[in-house]
Amino acid sequence: MSSTLQKDQASKPSTDRLAKQKKLYERAMELIPGGTQLISRRPTRFAHGVSPIFADRGKGARIWDIDGNEYIDWVSGIGSIILGYADDVVDDAVKSQIDKGTNFSITHELEVELAEELVSTIPCAEMVRYTRCGGEACAVAIRIARGSTGRDKVLFCGYHGWHDWYLAANHVEGNLNDHLFSGIEPTGVPKGLTGTCFPFPYGELAALGELLEKHKGQVAAVIMEPMRSELPPEGYLAGVQKLAKEHNTVLIFDEVSTGFRLSEGGSQKALGVTPDMAVFAKSISNGYAMGAVVGKRDVMEPAARMFISSTYWGEAVGLIAALTTLREIKKRNVPKYLLGFGEQLQKELNAVAKETGMPVEMTGHPIHPHWSFTVEDAEQKAILPTLYVQEMAKRGNHGYASFYLNASQGPAELEQVTAAAREVFSLLVEGIAKNNLKSMMECEMQKEYFKRLVR
Ligand SMILES: Cc1ncc(COP(=O)(O)O)c(C=O)c1O
Repeated sequence: MSSTLQKDQASKPSTDRLAKQKKLYERAMELIPGGTQLISRRPTRFAHGVSPIFADRGKGARIWDIDGNEYIDWVSGIGSIILGYADDVVDDAVKSQIDKGTNFSITHELEVELAEELVSTIPCAEMVRYTRCGGEACAVAIRIARGSTGRDKVLFCGYHGWHDWYLAANHVEGNLNDHLFSGIEPTGVPKGLTGTCFPFPYGELAALGELLEKHKGQVAAVIMEPMRSELPPEGYLAGVQKLAKEHNTVLIFDEVSTGFRLSEGGSQKALGVTPDMAVFAKSISNGYAMGAVVGKRDVMEPAARMFISSTYWGEAVGLIAALTTLREIKKRNVPKYLLGFGEQLQKELNAVAKETGMPVEMTGHPIHPHWSFTVEDAEQKAILPTLYVQEMAKRGNHGYASFYLNASQGPAELEQVTAAAREVFSLLVEGIAKNNLKSMMECEMQKEYFKRLVR
C-alpha cells in the first residue's frame, strides 16, 4: 500500500469506508447467533465501527475487505496462516487435489504420507489421528487419554477449545477466568461433568503437584499450552513432565496456537521437552481446515478400539494442504525467518515508541510479540488498546495489540507498520497529555478481551 493510499484510507470517515460491511453485519446479526463462528473474529474484539468486518480476499501478508480497503493482517487469520495468504505452492497442490476428488468411500494415501511426515518431524509423534480443527483435536486427545488410562479427570492450563470436557470446568465458577476469559457461562454443558476438569496455574509446579496428589490415581491427562508469547520458566516443562510421569498421567501439549512458528518440529522440539501427546491445527495447513493428534505408540494405539470417527477427518484437501505446508515450512526455513522478522519488528516498533514518547513496550517472544501499555492512569490504560487498534486499522494495519507473524510479512510491511505506528503514537501521546483519549474513540470499546494465563 502506498503512503498516499494509506493517507486516503485513514482520512475517509469509517461510515463510508465500511459502508457495505456495516450493512452486511446487521444481516449477519439477524441470521447468525453471535454474528461470527469464531469469538476472536467478532468485530467487538477489534475496534468495532472502524476495523474491517468482512474479508473479500487475501494474498501474502495482506487482506482486502468487501469495501475494497487493504490491510496488512497482523494476526494472520488468527494464527492459521503461517506462509502467507493464498500461498501459490499450497494452493496449487490443493487445486490439483480438487481436480482428482476430495472425499472418498475408501481411505486416501495422503493419510499415510502426512502421518509419516508428522512422525519424522515432531519428537513425540509415533502414531497420528486427524481432525479438522484445534478444539476437536483437543477433544480427541482427551478421549484417547481417558480411554488409554481408564481414568476420568483432566488437569489443564490454557485455552483448549469449546467442547464439554473443557467448559465443564466452569461449573465451578471462575475456573476458566485465567485461561479463557472471565465471566464465561458453561451454558449447555452437562452439570454431570462437574468435578471432572480442573485448572492449574502456569509456571507453578507446586500447585500442579498438589492437584495431582489431591486427585491421586484419577487424573487421565495433564493438558497445557507449553507456551504462548513468553518462553516458559527454566526447568518448568521438565518439572511438569516429571510430575506427570510420577502420577502415570498422560502429558499433552496443546500446540494449536504456537504451531510450527518456533520450530519445524513444533514448540516441543525447540523447548526440549517431549510430551506423551500433542495437538496441532491452525498453522499446520496454512488456513485450510485441518488438525492432528500425535503421540507415543502406547498412548495412541488403544484409540484403535475407541469410537473416534468422522467422515471428514480423512478428506484430501486438508491432508494435502497440511503435507505441503509442513514441507514448505522446512524448505523455506520459516521458524528462522519468523524469529529474525519478529526481532526486527520488535526493535523498530519499540524505537518508534521511544521516539514518540509513547508509554508502551513491545514484549514477548519475537514469534508472538504483544504491546504492553505502561501508562499509569487506569482509564487511559483501558482505552489505549482499542484506540491503538482503531487508528492502526485506519492506516491499513489490522490486528489486536498482539501479533501472529507469517512468512509473507517482509520489509514493505515493516516499513508500513512503523510509519503507521509513528503517526498513531504521536496522536495518542497528545491525547494522553490533553487527557482527551475518550473523545478520540470512533468505535466501541473492545469486548471479551481474550485473557490468557499462558501469555
Ligand atoms: C491453544 C489452542 N487450543 C485450541 C484452540 C481451538 O482451536 P480451533 O479454533 O481450531 O477449534 C485454539 C484456538 O485459538 C488454541 O489457541
